[in-house]
Amino acid sequence: MVYTKIISTGSYAPNNIVTNDDLSKIVETDDQWISSRTGIRERRISLGENTSALAAKAGLDAINNAGLTPMDIDLLIVATTTPDMFTPSTACIVQDIIGAKKAYAFDVSAACSGFIYALSVADKIMRAGEEVNALVIGAETLSRIVNWNDRGTCVLFGDGAGAVVLKKSEEKGIISSVLGSDGTLGRSSLTSGEFVPKNPYIENDNKEDDIYINMDGKEIFRFAVNKIPQAVNEVLAKAETSLDEVKLIFPHQANLRIVDAAAKKLDLPKEKFYVNLNKYGNTSAASIPLALDEANKNGLLQQGDKLVLVGFGGGLTWGSVFLQW
Ligand code: COA
Repeated sequence: MVYTKIISTGSYAPNNIVTNDDLSKIVETDDQWISSRTGIRERRISLGENTSALAAKAGLDAINNAGLTPMDIDLLIVATTTPDMFTPSTACIVQDIIGAKKAYAFDVSAACSGFIYALSVADKIMRAGEEVNALVIGAETLSRIVNWNDRGTCVLFGDGAGAVVLKKSEEKGIISSVLGSDGTLGRSSLTSGEFVPKNPYIENDNKEDDIYINMDGKEIFRFAVNKIPQAVNEVLAKAETSLDEVKLIFPHQANLRIVDAAAKKLDLPKEKFYVNLNKYGNTSAASIPLALDEANKNGLLQQGDKLVLVGFGGGLTWGSVFLQW
């Protein structure tokens, strides 16, 4: 049986730390509101680096930690909601920056589920094809699409990038994955980057572009609390594995209350969920690989550990991956 296995992790976040107190100087808010509602205490905000720059640094970190060079990479996927531009893809820009000349490169757009989508797609491609090493990155500069006048959203998000090197393997690695989408809910509850059609043949109806994140927080909260347990149970059922065998769950890092409510639904102690959103806020597609890299570098992951990664977000989308470390 052919598997793919995560052989290394990497990450990068801008060194500009913005605390809740810092935000209270920009919008009417305070540390008490933000930390009690979300668990977030600080986030990193880019001082000019774009998504590709963050992604390239996280990617190189993962490649170095694997003992490989960029020329060893056959497939390069970047999951992002905040590409540098429409084209070239952020993945192609990263390819150029790091010199991964042998790879083919493309982006995946699945908002905060993006890294799970990218990892699952890479796994499926590699098991069916000739690729040996893939670099899978989640990277965001959400500070570019946050409305800094809207206290309801600007306090939630941050910038960062995380990456893994995935290698074809005879040893068990990724065991099962689940991906899902529900487009019927997407445009009413979580949007950003709306560019309205404009050309010389259309009369100006005064509709403006809207690049900002618009969100129905309560709707997304409900969605997430239902989807995390569902996606965890489904991915484990596919692998005929019970929750007891799982050492750690890496959820998308959006809100501590969402994680706590999901843990309760799954009847699991909170400690089974790895959380670092207090330091980074919601970094969308970057949040799961950022957390995974932190846990890995802190020596929390041992060979053979069974882990679940689970994401949810705009689209609406969700997904989970069950793997053996
Ligand atoms: N500081 C102070 N007050 C704030 C605030 C802030 N940063 N943001 C909103 N408020 C106010 C609101 O204006 C509202 O005031 P009002 O009652 O006078 O109208 C009040 O706080 C309560 O807002 P509400 O929206 O009911 O809060 P909530 O308990 O639902 O928490 C979220 C809001 C956004 C934290 C929560 O809904 C959430 O986390 N949702 C999920 C969002 C998410 O994770 N999105 C990304 C998914 S990938």
